[in-house]
Amino acid sequence: DRSVKIAPSILSADFADFGREIQAVEAEGADWIHVDVMDGHFVPNLTFGPPAVKAFRPHVKTFMDVHLMIAPVDSYIDAYADAGADMLTAHVEAGPHPHRTLQAIKVAGMQAGIALNPGTPAEAVRELLPLADMVLVMTVNPGFGGQKFIDMTAKVRTIREWIGDRPIHIQIDGGVTPETAPLVVEAGADVLVAGSAVFKGGSVSNPAPYGENMRAI
Ligand code: DX5
Ligand code: ZN
Repeated sequence: DRSVKIAPSILSADFADFGREIQAVEAEGADWIHVDVMDGHFVPNLTFGPPAVKAFRPHVKTFMDVHLMIAPVDSYIDAYADAGADMLTAHVEAGPHPHRTLQAIKVAGMQAGIALNPGTPAEAVRELLPLADMVLVMTVNPGFGGQKFIDMTAKVRTIREWIGDRPIHIQIDGGVTPETAPLVVEAGADVLVAGSAVFKGGSVSNPAPYGENMRAI
């Protein structure tokens, strides 16, 4: 389905060569670039912060989709705006005031996403939909690439029904493969993040598998 966007997660790219990895995956057809920011506190892993994300920016010709797995969020919003994020997604579990967080992301000039962990019910984001450009339904517990898909199709279906005809994306992140992607697309998702399933078998010097992998999803 051509209306479904593929957002490769550079968490599965070569960490010594992000610029060329981003260029390679875009040349092979990526719609967005998904950037996983982890703080070693909200999730049990640590990746990169605003200066690194700012360094990725000139390499991203498509759309830079920044997934914050950090708490607290609000004090970092301006830094990610300055780094050049197009979409900034925060977790609903990251603090008591997700509504304020989404407002602040919009004020800073970015599109605003709200993410839910697998254990969080759809209801947690219902009142936030008027402020959201995207809902990110996690299909793994965040922190690592290469985990097994957790079926959240019922949650996706519920949120798609609440969205109705509003232009709000539903993004899926975690364990997306050629086998699991059709399930979530059928339920109403339109942006698929994939890390290991995109980058497997390829490299910066041989990126052709990236394209084959994305087309297979
Ligand atoms: C998980 C991250 C994902 C991750 C997905 O915490 O948010 O974006 O990179 O990796 P795969 O596609 O390998 O499950
Ligand atoms: Zn992610």
